Amino acid sequence: MSSTVHHIRGPQNPLDRLGRPLHDLRISVMDRCNFRCPYCMPKEQFHEHYRFLKSQERLSFEEIVRLAGLFASLGVRKLRLTGGEPLLRTNLADLVGDLTDVPGIDDIALTTNGVLLGQHAVDLHANGLKRVTVSLDTLDREVFTRMSGGFGALEQVLAGIEAAIAAGLTPVKINAVVERGLNDHTALDLVERFRGSPVIVRFIEFMDVGNRNQWRPDLVVPSRELAARIHERWPMRPISENYKGEVAQRWRFDDGGGEVGFISSVSQPFCGACSRARLSSEGKFYTCLFATHGLDLRAPLRAGTSDADILQLIRGVWHGRTDRYSELREQLRHDLYSFGCRAPPGHGRCQRQEADQADGHGRSAGALPAGRRGGAA
Ligand SMILES: C[S@@+](CC[C@H](N)C(=O)[O-])C[C@H]1O[C@@H](n2cnc3c(N)ncnc32)[C@H](O)[C@@H]1O
Ligand code: SF4
Repeated sequence: MSSTVHHIRGPQNPLDRLGRPLHDLRISVMDRCNFRCPYCMPKEQFHEHYRFLKSQERLSFEEIVRLAGLFASLGVRKLRLTGGEPLLRTNLADLVGDLTDVPGIDDIALTTNGVLLGQHAVDLHANGLKRVTVSLDTLDREVFTRMSGGFGALEQVLAGIEAAIAAGLTPVKINAVVERGLNDHTALDLVERFRGSPVIVRFIEFMDVGNRNQWRPDLVVPSRELAARIHERWPMRPISENYKGEVAQRWRFDDGGGEVGFISSVSQPFCGACSRARLSSEGKFYTCLFATHGLDLRAPLRAGTSDADILQLIRGVWHGRTDRYSELREQLRHDLYSFGCRAPPGHGRCQRQEADQADGHGRSAGALPAGRRGGAA
């Protein structure tokens, strides 16, 4: 059915149980990826026989645009297109163009591994994309190969970044996941390469998202440790956030070389200000990166449900939202290891528990990698 959302303005934007508004929507447009980053989609699990979604199981562009309009009427102002790898979705620039017409949306961003960015940067910009975030964990070729699971080439990602700058998708942000003993020794090289350019490097603490990424607390390099290492080489000081709820803490170099960011989801969780909702490529609405269950919006969309009724569903879920997984992580780890894998409902971090919940795709809901719900940043 056609949407009447453009005429619907929520009388009051919903707040969740902890008083947080709904402001951002991360839309995973593609569950597949052309990388196999071990921290996100380890190839042992996402192998050649892994059952990804069939194309008709993914939300169509029309469905995504309709849902974006509904979310906008509840207060969402910012959209981030992500995946999997969003640039694997054919004609993604057309979707960007359609989303720029959605009333209420004033910011559209894209997170990509950058391999295909060189081919699409100009079209994306022409269709209304303003900026892009490229994930790049290291400049060391060997480490890059390990961290991409052996796919893609560093040169392609660097060319993608250059193409984004040339197309005007600036400032380009770089997301670098840091894992102790794997790429932390290369972090300063990334800073050095992009200091003084229209690129802002942001370091992300390795997170325990998905259930087979071999996460261990000692593999997390706390942002304060990394910041101290960088500060020793290039003195810098913290600066204020660009907007309320920004996930990255910003630091500016004293010598005018620009800034770096730190996304400290493990050491300094930011659940208290989290206003992000997530839409998976199959149309499930999640209220947290770590949530094990999402509300299926594809079924009502395809059953001809009215905008008003779908809005009611979304509003109901947001009203009931209590997620603050990262803040509870320490307590959860204690529960897992001390009390035989009994994580609180809705946060099945225990592999045995998750295997028991396996869904029709031969994977468990809690096993969804960051890619299925768009990652942290
Ligand atoms: C899931 S990816 C999807 C978009 C695209 N494929 C990319 O890599 O940019 C979004 C972001 O999540 C981050 N991410 C994935 N798994 C993570 C983990 N275990 N810990 C921290 N960040 C993670 C990625 O580095 C990336 O910046
Ligand atoms: S982080 Fe992005 S590029 Fe890497 S496997 Fe996940 S979705 Fe793919």
